[in-house]
Amino acid sequence: MGWSAYYERHESRPCSPLLTKALAALRTHQRQAVDLGCGNGIETQAMLCHNWAVHAIDSEPEAIARVQKRHSDMAGAPSLLTTELTAFETLEHLPSADLVFAGFSLPFCRPEHFAKFWGLVTSSLRPGGVLAGQLFGVNDAWSDNKSMSFFTHADCLNLFATLELLQLQEADSMGTSMQGPKRWHLFEFVARKPVA
Ligand SMILES: C[S@@+](CC[C@H](N)C(=O)[O-])C[C@H]1O[C@@H](n2cnc3c(N)ncnc32)[C@H](O)[C@@H]1O
Repeated sequence: MGWSAYYERHESRPCSPLLTKALAALRTHQRQAVDLGCGNGIETQAMLCHNWAVHAIDSEPEAIARVQKRHSDMAGAPSLLTTELTAFETLEHLPSADLVFAGFSLPFCRPEHFAKFWGLVTSSLRPGGVLAGQLFGVNDAWSDNKSMSFFTHADCLNLFATLELLQLQEADSMGTSMQGPKRWHLFEFVARKPVA
């Protein structure tokens, strides 16, 4: 199943509650965000509505088209949206950001590129800026997929070593995916770049 079906399924879902937690954790007053793996742009749109400038990144042309369409439907809004059609694996630059949101997208970075990508993400954060999203754990049903990245709890602690880890919520339970029942092993996190 491709991403198109996912975008359709999620077209009208509410904005992620994790974004609200991330916004509450900010210790900076600038408003530049990056939405990594923006999908159909629900969180991008929510940030734009709060007057954030958002750089939305995804490797799927359909995702970028959907986020642009969603934005153009916002009558009279000034354009604070920039988009980039790129894979995490080939990303060379990110704008300095106060908020990096990565909703269910980081696990899709190939493991051999993850360390470099993560370095880019964490160094893009301004002091007081927040990074929020989900990582998948090693018990996840998809963990035999060699093109995806999976982590132990200890791995996660290492990933956040240079940040203040405000939330690392682990869940390992049966649920459903679009393909049917699935074991989900998730780490949902909110982390902040220390203010020097
Ligand atoms: C599960 S969807 C999540 C979309 C959105 N953030 C949400 O929460 O609904 C994952 C998104 O990551 C994008 N993606 C997957 N692998 C990627 C990669 N290697 N580089 C950039 N984006 C990728 C997909 O195209 C998809 O839009």
